[in-house]
Amino acid sequence: MKEQLEQIKSRAFAALEAAKAVPELEELRVRLLGKKGELTAVLKMMGKLSSEERPVMGQLANSVRAAIEARLDARRTELEAAALDARLAAEALDVTVPGTKPELGHRHPMYIALDEAKEIFIGMGFQILEGPEVELADYNFTKLNTEEGHPARDWSDTFYLKEDSSVLLRTQTSPMQIRAMEAIKQPPIRILAPGRVYRKDEVDATHSPMFHQIEGLVIDKGITMADLKGTLETLVKSLYGEDSVVRFRPHHFPFTEPSCEVDVQCFKCRGAGCPTCKGEGWIELLGAGMVHPRVLEGCGIDPSVYSGFAFGIGLERMAMRRFQISDLRLIFENDIRFLRQF
Ligand code: DAH
Repeated sequence: MKEQLEQIKSRAFAALEAAKAVPELEELRVRLLGKKGELTAVLKMMGKLSSEERPVMGQLANSVRAAIEARLDARRTELEAAALDARLAAEALDVTVPGTKPELGHRHPMYIALDEAKEIFIGMGFQILEGPEVELADYNFTKLNTEEGHPARDWSDTFYLKEDSSVLLRTQTSPMQIRAMEAIKQPPIRILAPGRVYRKDEVDATHSPMFHQIEGLVIDKGITMADLKGTLETLVKSLYGEDSVVRFRPHHFPFTEPSCEVDVQCFKCRGAGCPTCKGEGWIELLGAGMVHPRVLEGCGIDPSVYSGFAFGIGLERMAMRRFQISDLRLIFENDIRFLRQF
């Protein structure tokens, strides 16, 4: 019986040692010490022993039981500690690891320039309008005093969308003048209409078949060329600095009379002539003029009561000048290494 008890003890210890998790220990307790366990079975046989042997074996059995219980408790503490260690290791957070930086986008330099221009005109009471890029030839040309057969209808190398030339991709934002007058009807009208325009041009450092313009239109009683000059000088000085010098040069556009082109004195050479201004001393900025009476009439506005001015700015050019970008293609390629610089 003594050997039996020793064996029970060593088997129990081995089983406890092999246990890998706390729940297993509960099963072991039942198996080793429970009513149907081996130790209980041995104890039940105590009655058959002689009266000398019984206390000795009784003591041994109790000490085996106590030893198993003690080992069981110790093992529980060990396994609980190990489980906690494993959990802490698994959940460990290394606060010294650098975070993952979210890749933020970047405002395009052309839109930075556009927003600056919008800001300036909103400050002067202009309303921002947007209109269709697929336009009626009527709005793009006819209502802008550019009749059928007028050379402008092909010099602009138009993308026509219908064989009868009635629908096209707008070649300029000027049709927004017509749309604004038809929509608002009653002057005063003060609008700014930025957007895309299309012409059949080959891509190079200064041309693209798609580019952007900003159209402006002001109609009210008593508007004169002086208002046009003041407005455009305000724009140029806000964009390029108070000391910029602006020049108004006579020109021709079918929908304005008189018409002009506006140049700014080269900010690099101050008029002396350099590569930036191609030796001219001046950089062309925009086209403008007093709205032609026929255009006003066509939109139901009486030219004997109202007058107005209009202008059209090339947005890419404006941004290129603003940020000293030398090649138009950089504007459209969207290389992040380029965009990040602004
Ligand atoms: N639409 C003209 C162009 O694309 C630019 C322009 C000139 C717009 C005179 C105007 C203007 O509003 O009055 O070349």
